Amino acid sequence: MPLSTPAAAAVQTLFKKHFGYTPPHVVKAPGRLEVLGNHTDYNDGLVMSVAVDKYIFIACAPRTDGKVELISSAFPEPEKFWVTEFKSNPTARWADYVKGVLAQLRKRGVHFSGFNAAIHGTIPVGAGMSSSAALEIATALAVRKLYPFSLTETGATVPPKRNERGELPPLPPGERMYFARLCHAAEYDFVGVRCGLLDQISSLYGKAWNIMNIDCRFLSVEHTPLVGQAVIVCNTGVKHSLVGGEYNALRDHCEAAAKKLGAKSLRSVEMKHLQANQAQLAPREFECAHHIVSEIARVVAAERALRADDYRQFGQYLFQSHESSRDSLKNSCPELDVLVEVARQHPGCIGARLTGGGFGGATINLVAYHQAESFMEHIAREYAVKTGIKITPQVCQIVDGAA
Ligand code: GLA
Repeated sequence: MPLSTPAAAAVQTLFKKHFGYTPPHVVKAPGRLEVLGNHTDYNDGLVMSVAVDKYIFIACAPRTDGKVELISSAFPEPEKFWVTEFKSNPTARWADYVKGVLAQLRKRGVHFSGFNAAIHGTIPVGAGMSSSAALEIATALAVRKLYPFSLTETGATVPPKRNERGELPPLPPGERMYFARLCHAAEYDFVGVRCGLLDQISSLYGKAWNIMNIDCRFLSVEHTPLVGQAVIVCNTGVKHSLVGGEYNALRDHCEAAAKKLGAKSLRSVEMKHLQANQAQLAPREFECAHHIVSEIARVVAAERALRADDYRQFGQYLFQSHESSRDSLKNSCPELDVLVEVARQHPGCIGARLTGGGFGGATINLVAYHQAESFMEHIAREYAVKTGIKITPQVCQIVDGAA
């Protein structure tokens, strides 16, 4: 764990200030940007994403009295609870992500007797960059550090062997999927957001300089290099919260459409079949299904373009995806649309679209390296002219996932 970064040092300082001693462990998990495949994950679909150099850090130490005490740099009050009682506290919703993971670990037979933890993040909250999934993954990794265990299909088993310095090996790739599923269950069951697996998988399977191609039906991940393009994130400044009901409502429309079409999920629906059966679906069900079916086809085509290094074509799929999210899925907002329109005007931008859940949050922009600076100036200036909102676009490095 590189303790030299300012954020890693900040989480240790926070821990020391609150608990009065130096934490023995620090873990981190990155946020992600969805590159293409909007809302396809919970439809058993395909999605492309990258893990980025924005993280949730947890500094932690064990306790033996059966209590957990959490402090976060983003909230003034600590949250304390017993390891036998994971209940949501309406005044500390941020702790739900931790409690949800602990409850799932317990369910799978992981034993732990309590801990102190300080949490600090560099992922902008509400930007659609999965700060919540990163917190979940970091929590699971923190418990693994403190009370080592391995996860299998059926639950927890004997811990991995430590090396001669007493350190645990990184999570093997196969085991990462069990961690992703556990953290996903935490969000689904405890927090109540019926999200797909995109965020948790991305935080664990990221690979520096590469785009992840995730197949959510078979839970497989492949990587394809992204060469010569800067990944730039532009945050609208409009808050995005999945806990609002819009996200779950989209999922309901998609599931209802699949059911009426006699399919297990929209992954197995062809556009022809959807169009031929439009009359059976409510208008919103048809629109959402139209987005999902076309978006999965776009991911397939985009993967082909990426493998052929055809970045111009690849970027076109990003623009098309945004239009489909805006017009069919209807999870965009005026500020996101302005950002994409302004991005499109810049000659260095090969593709731009909203990223993540939508209803606010951020856009992802792929821009030729040498034009990144001029692109960021252009976006900040034009967005301020059109909306009156000041933003600071940021270049994100594509990084390895948490391990
Ligand atoms: C959020 C969810 C993901 C995914 C995206 C949209 O980030 O957490 O599971 O559905 O929205 O693609």
